[in-house]
Order: sequence, then structure tokens, then C-alpha cells
Amino acid sequence: MVDVLLGLQWGDEGKGKIVDVLAPQYQVVARFQGGPNAGHTLEFDGFKHVLHQIPSGIFRADILNIIGNGVVLDPIVFKREIDGLAKFNLPLTENLVISRKASIIIPTHRLLDAAYEKAKGEAKIGSTLRGIGPTYQDKVARQGLRVGDMSSPNFAEKYQKLVDIHKVILAQNNYDFADALPQAEAEFFAAVEFMKQFKLTDSEYAVNDALTAGKNVLAEGAQGSLLDIDFGSYPFVTSSSTMAAGACTGLGVAPGRIGEVFGIFKAYCTRVGSGPFPTELSDEIGEKMRTEGNEFGATTGRPRRCGWLDLPALKYAIMINGVTQLVMMKVDVLNIFEEINICTHYQLPDGDVTEQMPYDLLDTPVTPIYKTFKGWQTDLTNIHTFEDMPGPLADYVTYLEETLGLPISFISTSPDREAIIHRNVAV
Ligand code: GDP
Ligand code: IMO
Ligand code: MG
Repeated sequence: MVDVLLGLQWGDEGKGKIVDVLAPQYQVVARFQGGPNAGHTLEFDGFKHVLHQIPSGIFRADILNIIGNGVVLDPIVFKREIDGLAKFNLPLTENLVISRKASIIIPTHRLLDAAYEKAKGEAKIGSTLRGIGPTYQDKVARQGLRVGDMSSPNFAEKYQKLVDIHKVILAQNNYDFADALPQAEAEFFAAVEFMKQFKLTDSEYAVNDALTAGKNVLAEGAQGSLLDIDFGSYPFVTSSSTMAAGACTGLGVAPGRIGEVFGIFKAYCTRVGSGPFPTELSDEIGEKMRTEGNEFGATTGRPRRCGWLDLPALKYAIMINGVTQLVMMKVDVLNIFEEINICTHYQLPDGDVTEQMPYDLLDTPVTPIYKTFKGWQTDLTNIHTFEDMPGPLADYVTYLEETLGLPISFISTSPDREAIIHRNVAV
């Protein structure tokens, strides 16, 4: 079966860590969407490593890692990532497969991302400026480049044709590209040559062959459900399908092959970039969360906005993804608080109370209604079982499981691979 692990909030829930923790149970780990906008952090044996496009199973030498067709891949970032992994002596040309159908991010996609953001002014999305939106735009416009094109004798020509289209748009936006482009292009073509030593294949066969052979596949989501192109807080979203269904189209597996859907969320909420955030705390509590949780972007270094856990949003994400098990992260960040809030409902501008996500949170600003819990104010470092959890934390967990109607199978208490409270659950 293909199990899917995905973020239920606005990204950065801790997906990288949990993929790494679960990886020994799988023979294949596959990314199905997104690209270098992702930053997935793994910590083990005193090392901290951030992956952007390479799946988080890469540190386990016996796992096949697949970059699926739904991904937008930047060769320059890819080369840098591979160079960064050199010290780990991993068999990278053996255990990494890249879909020939994955889209290629070219240097002008990054410039277009910046130009579009600049043109939006105050209304900018706060994108990661990694060229994600423009690359998906070209894919849907049926004019993009794919990894398989790299081996075509006409690759340079195809590239130039796309760049010429981009240059017109950049000029229309008065965006000066003359300085930045030549060096980026040289780096791009060097990186394309570099990529050719890897397995560039029709990876839908690799995934389905693995399934036929009885192997277990873990699909690693990037971003989060509230950034999904269809169901996120549009237009403040990313450009891909971040939900469980995206694993089918982004890898080439049938819906019936999907097994468990692990939904991962922080015990509070964060968001990086612009857009509505009902439970955001612009006060000293939010500041404390940011400091305690080290809430600064793994890709861009930007400070993340912080706020209380938002149940209407979480329930919505669980619904659209068909989540079967929950994973709660960064519980230790709340250790210092005397009281902890959870938003249970939204109050609408007309006074009505709802549990549903409004069509547009900007047009319909909601006021969160909170339920307050007693803080546990206990160090969780040596706690590894549900039985040993401090009483107030156990109450918090029980409340969430009952309200969400799902088991929380893992609770994470620090960035390290070993820091996990695990419970076997019958699903
Ligand atoms: P991802 O994008 O979902 O993989 O998450 P990121 O790596 O962007 O952000 C999660 C951050 O939280 C990283 O710095 C992790 O090392 C860290 N982290 C993961 N789990 C925990 C936890 O349980 N407690 C704390 N304090 N930090 C954690
Ligand atoms: P991981 O996988 C958090 C956000 C950006 C911006 C919006 C659109 O590490 O959880 P884009 O560059 O995709 O066009 O930006 O989405 N964003 C993320 N926020 N974690 C991520 O990835 C994100 N990837 C994109 O900040 O608001
Ligand atoms: Mg991240």
C-alpha cells in the first residue's frame, strides 16, 4: 500500500522528522508535489539537515527515494542538495529515482516569481521566490520543460523557446533580468549535466512495481492542506495539490492503493508568508511560541507567524484528506505556558457561530472562540509513553482525540529522531 504523510496546517508541521522516524517500515519514500519551496528538517546523531526536493528517506541506505512527476524540480537546488549530502557517503545514484515527467524550474521561473510578487505590492502572497507558481503555470499551459527533456538533442532549443516567452512577460512587468540571467543560466546547464548521472525514469513504474512486489511506499507531502491550490486559503496558497489525492496524480498510483493517511499538525499553528490566520497571536504569547519553537523558515529563514491550535481548520483538513491517524508535533514548545487555548469554533461577523471554514477568510473575518486548558509545565524529555504523560497533557490529548474522532499515534517532544511518544493504535 501507499501510506501518505501530509501536513494539516500551513506547512512546517515537522513532516521531515516523522518521515525519517517512520522510514524503517517502508522500502520506498516518494515526494509527490511541491519543490524547493519545501524545507524538511531531520535531526539525528547530533546532525541537523534540511532537505528541499530530496525525499526524507534518503538517510536510510536501503530505501528507494523517488521524486515523483507531481514535483517541480530545480536542477541548481538539486545539485546543491546532493553536494550537501556528500559527507554522509550515501549511495545516491543508486537509491534516488527522478521522474522524467517531473517539471523543471528554470532560472526565469524564479525571476517571474519575483516579478509577479512585486506587481502584487501589498497583496503579495509572500511566496518562497523559488519559481514554484510560474513553473506550475507553464505545466498547466502545456509549454513547460520536463526532466525527460534533458536527454533530448533539442533541449537547448526547447529551453530557449520557453525563456523567450518569459522574457516578454518580464519586460512587460519592467523587471530587469539582464544582470542576473547569464550566470544563473551557466549554473543551470551545469546542473542539468550533473543530473544525468542519476536515474531519470518513468517513476510510475518504479512505484507500481514496488507495490506489486508487496513493498510499502510512504508518500511524503510538502507544504500543508491550508496551502492547497483548491482547498487552501486561496489565493494565499501554493500551486500544487498538497492533499492525499495529490499523491495519486503526483506519483501515478490508483486511489485504491492508498492505505493509511497520517495527518501531522503542531500543538499550535504557524504560517509563513501572507494570508488570513484566524488564531494568530500578535502579542507576547505569539512571540514566546516563536522563540521556544524556533519558528523561523527552514527554506527562507523568515519568522513564522504563530497562534493557537485551530480546530475548525484542522477538522476541515482531516475531512478533505481522509486522515486515518494523527501525529502531533512540538508539544514541548507549550511546556512553558500556564494556560493553553484551543479554538473550537469561529464566530462570524453576523454573530453566528460555526465549525466550518468560510469561503474566504478575508471577506469573512472570523473571531476564534477558545476553550482553555491547564498547561502541563513539565519537561517532556524523558517521556516516551502515553502512560507517563503529565495529567494536563493527557487531558489535552484525550480532548483532541475525542473531538477529532481519530487516534493520535505519535507525539513529538523535540527535533531529534528519538524524541517521540508512540502508541500502537488499531485503526
Ligand atoms: P516540515 O517542513 O514539515 O518538515 O517542518 P520544518 O522542518 O520546516 O519545521 C519543523 C521544525 O521543527 C524543524 O526545525 C524541526 O527540527 C523542528 N521540530 C520537529 N519536531 C519537533 C518537536 O517535537 N519539538 C520541537 N521543539 N521542534 C521540533
Ligand atoms: P514545507 O514543505 C511553509 C508558503 C509560502 C507562501 C505560499 C506560496 O516545508 O512545509 P510558494 O513559494 O509555494 O509559491 O509560496 O506557501 N509555503 C510554505 N510555507 N512550509 C512550506 O513547505 C511552504 N512552501 C510554501 O510561504 O505563503
Ligand atoms: Mg518546512
